[in-house]
This record gives sequence, structure tokens and C-alpha cells, in this order.
Amino acid sequence: MALAFNDEDRAKIEQIVARYPNKPAALLPILHYAQDKFGHLAPEVQLLVAHAIDVPPPRVREVVTFYEMYHEHPEGQFHLEVCTNISCHLMGGDAVLDHLRKKLGIACGEHTEDGMFSLMEAECLASCGSGVCMKVGRDYYESLTVDAVDALVDRFKAMAPELKGHHYIEGKDGPHVGPVKGFEPPRPGAGNPAPAPAKEKEAEAAAPSKATGDLPAFNPPPLKKDDGKKKK
Ligand code: FES
Repeated sequence: MALAFNDEDRAKIEQIVARYPNKPAALLPILHYAQDKFGHLAPEVQLLVAHAIDVPPPRVREVVTFYEMYHEHPEGQFHLEVCTNISCHLMGGDAVLDHLRKKLGIACGEHTEDGMFSLMEAECLASCGSGVCMKVGRDYYESLTVDAVDALVDRFKAMAPELKGHHYIEGKDGPHVGPVKGFEPPRPGAGNPAPAPAKEKEAEAAAPSKATGDLPAFNPPPLKKDDGKKKK
């Protein structure tokens, strides 16, 4: 099925655009909207956004690849972003991140084989007074320790069946999954290569091609080896 914005999407986009002096100025919120709808900003989705608000496609890609909150590739159902910037670093952010790497068996920029978790080292999440801070979907988890993230991971695992393959967005009033397409493992033989999950894989494995929900198969460019990992 071809990707498209439906009438409801177009109405929402118009509503967002109305808050800005012109269509292109609404690029960031429209990207958020598209990412919520399609799960990630595949090249086809970027093109949809470009056409919807009259922004050249290369400009859209520049923005998507500049900001860490936009994802060109499917993330895990629970996308864990751990801050290791200065305040969180002083409170043990690196130890928390290392612990998660070992516990989940993945490096930053990778996802677990079942697609449940993906991991990223984050820049400052603006919660410096309550480090270590980790963002999961739109939720912030603060004052984290190794024991606390163990308990959180167990909680997410228990919660996963309720999400029915969708991404976790926020859990303030119980898990909210929203209209987001969920992660699906790659489907070898349907135009996709065999699954190339995390662990000992090299750079190209950090960006395996996948089909997600109703999205057509696509082959995004490989991520850099250190994607998802801050440069020190
Ligand atoms: S340093 Fe971690 S939230 Fe600011």
C-alpha cells in the first residue's frame, strides 16, 4: 500500500501549519507528527512531508539526520535514550549505559533481535538536576541506578504484550501506544535481506532493512558505525 497522508492527517497538518508564518516553518512539528504516525521517518515518509509543506526533500533529510529525536530507521518498541552528559555522567550515566548494553546484548544504535528494545546514548535531556536520566518514548525516568534500570527493563518486558507490536510512547496513565506503526522483524524473501540484529555485527548491521507495518520495503543507507553513540 502506497504511503499517504489521509484526510485526518491533512487536517492536522493544516492545524499545525496555521501556528507558523508559512508552511516550511512547521517542518519540525510535522516531522514529529509523521514519525508518530509511521513509526519512523523512512525516505518515503520524508518525501511525503516535503510535498505536504513545500520543503525541498534534501532539506527535510538534513533536518532528520541532524536531530537525534528523529529516526530514519525503525527503533525497538522501547527506545531507551540514556543521558551521559556532564551531570548524568557525574551521577553514573556511563555505568547505567554500560549495564544496559550488557543486559540487552546490544550496542548503542542497535536493537534486540526481537525488536523489543533499542538503545541510544543521549545528549543532555534537560533534566540535569535528577540524573541519571533516561528517556523512553516521551517519558522521562530520573535518578536512575543500575538496579533501577533492571527493574524498569523487567517492567517493560511485562508491558510489551499489551502494546501488541506498537511502540511505547508514554505510560503516565498506563501504556499509551497511539497511532504508531509497530516494529516488525524483517521478512526475508519479501524484498528484504535476512534479519541482521545487533551484537557482533559490523556497521551495516546497525541499520538493517526492515518492513514495518504497512510500509513498503525500503533499503535505507547504512548508518555510520558510531550512530547512536556520542562522539567524546
Ligand atoms: S546532563 Fe543529563 S539531563 Fe542534563
